[in-house]
Amino acid sequence: MTAPTPLIAGNWKMNGASAALAEAKAIADGVGDCPARVAICPPATLTHRMSQALDGSKVLVGGQDAHWDDAGAFTGDISAEMLADAGAKLVILGHSERRAGWRETDEMVANKVKAALRAGLEPVVCVGETLEERDAGKALQVVTGQVRGSLPQELAGKTFSIAYEPVWAIGTGRTPTTPDIEEVHRAIRATLVEMFGEAARGVPILYGGSVKPSNATEILHAAEVGGALVGGASLKAADFLGIIRAL
Ligand code: PGA
Repeated sequence: MTAPTPLIAGNWKMNGASAALAEAKAIADGVGDCPARVAICPPATLTHRMSQALDGSKVLVGGQDAHWDDAGAFTGDISAEMLADAGAKLVILGHSERRAGWRETDEMVANKVKAALRAGLEPVVCVGETLEERDAGKALQVVTGQVRGSLPQELAGKTFSIAYEPVWAIGTGRTPTTPDIEEVHRAIRATLVEMFGEAARGVPILYGGSVKPSNATEILHAAEVGGALVGGASLKAADFLGIIRAL
C-alpha cells in the first residue's frame, strides 16, 4: 500500500498580476528539498508566464478551473487543454466558490475531471460542507456524496487528489478541530477505497480552509491529511514557505 506523497497547493484565486511572478519565484527558490509536492495555481492570465518562470524548479503550476468541453463557443471559459498548453500540470476543480457562485453541480465537476484527464492534467477535486450542513449533522453525508458524484470512474489508476475544504473555514480564520478534520478525511478515504479499491489509499486528501504557518504543523500531521490547499496564505512567499516547512 503506497502512502500518499503529500501535495501542498496554493490557490491564488483572483489575485495576482505580473508583479506577483516575483513572489512565485521566491517560493520556488525557498522550497528546498521538502518532502511534499508543491504547486501554485495562479489566475489563468499568469499560467504561461509562471510556468516559464518556474521551469526546472520543484514547484508545479496549476489552473483553478477548466471547462468540461475541449473547445467551442463558451465565451470567457478556458479548457483543460489550454491550461496544459500554457504549462499547467494540475487543475483545481469543484472549488466551493465555483459550486456556490457558478452553481457547479457534482455532475459538472465530474465532466470537468474527465476533460482534465483528456488534457493530461492532474485533477485536485474539492469537496466540503457548509456551516448549515455541519450544524445539521450532515457533514459526512454531504462530503462523501460530493466525492461519489464528482469523481468519474475514469480516475481509476490516475494521479489525482481530493481537497476537503469546509466552506465555513475558507477565508474566515476558523478551522475545524483536528478530530473533526480526521473524521471527514477517514470518511473520504473509505469512500475512495469503495470506489477505486485499495489503490485509492495512495490518493492524497488535502485539507483546505484557513491554513496558515501557525496551524500547519498540527493540520498536516493529522491522520489521513495528505497536504493542504492554501488560499490567502499562499500569496506571500514567507507564509506559504512557512506552511511547506511545517511538513
Ligand atoms: P483560505 O482558502 O486558505 O484563504 O481559507 C482556501 C481555499 O479556498 O482553497
